[in-house]
Amino acid sequence: MGLTMFTNNVIIDAILVYLPAMVSNAVPVFIKKGTPLDRGKLFIDGRRILGDGKTIEGFITGLYFGFIVSTLYAIMLNDYILLLQLWASSIGALLGDIIGSFVKRRMGIPRGGKAIGLDQLDFYIGANALLVATMFNISTQLFIVGLVIVMILHIATNRVAYILGLKNVPW
Ligand code: CTP
Ligand code: MG
Repeated sequence: MGLTMFTNNVIIDAILVYLPAMVSNAVPVFIKKGTPLDRGKLFIDGRRILGDGKTIEGFITGLYFGFIVSTLYAIMLNDYILLLQLWASSIGALLGDIIGSFVKRRMGIPRGGKAIGLDQLDFYIGANALLVATMFNISTQLFIVGLVIVMILHIATNRVAYILGLKNVPW
């Protein structure tokens, strides 16, 4: 596989490849309150295992919408290996986000507290890990372009959420 796969533009390719993962990462935000994945349990350090920000409903909703986006590609491109790889990327995004919360709790950062880098990239690392595990050939260029897109989208969406009054701070 060359540097680009779908089109001759690496930016469009990065959006296509990482869109299911980004969708899976974004839609749980609309889950206001759900059943915590850790069921409220504490870890051996006395802090929550994951915290109230990681719910079963959020996980299922994220998976569902990520799978829908992936399935649309598979039909359009008639590529069912890619379908499995993109499904994996959605699962990886959600697992990466969960691992990110686990790490934050161990560092003593409460649910919703800031962990610059980890907050933005936990899902991206998870998605890439499962893409690689399913033999998806990620070029360094694609990875970096995807990373830049994720960072820009994170800043932009937080600004919009702040303007709309969904968030108290613009970051
Ligand atoms: N969410 C969810 N279930 C998930 C992931 C996210 O319900 N598996 C929802 C929660 O309402 C969460 C919101 O999406 O508050 C935003 O996700 P995120 O920023 O990852 O959570 P935080 O609240 O910042 O918590 P943490 O500090 O654990 O990252
Ligand atoms: Mg967060």
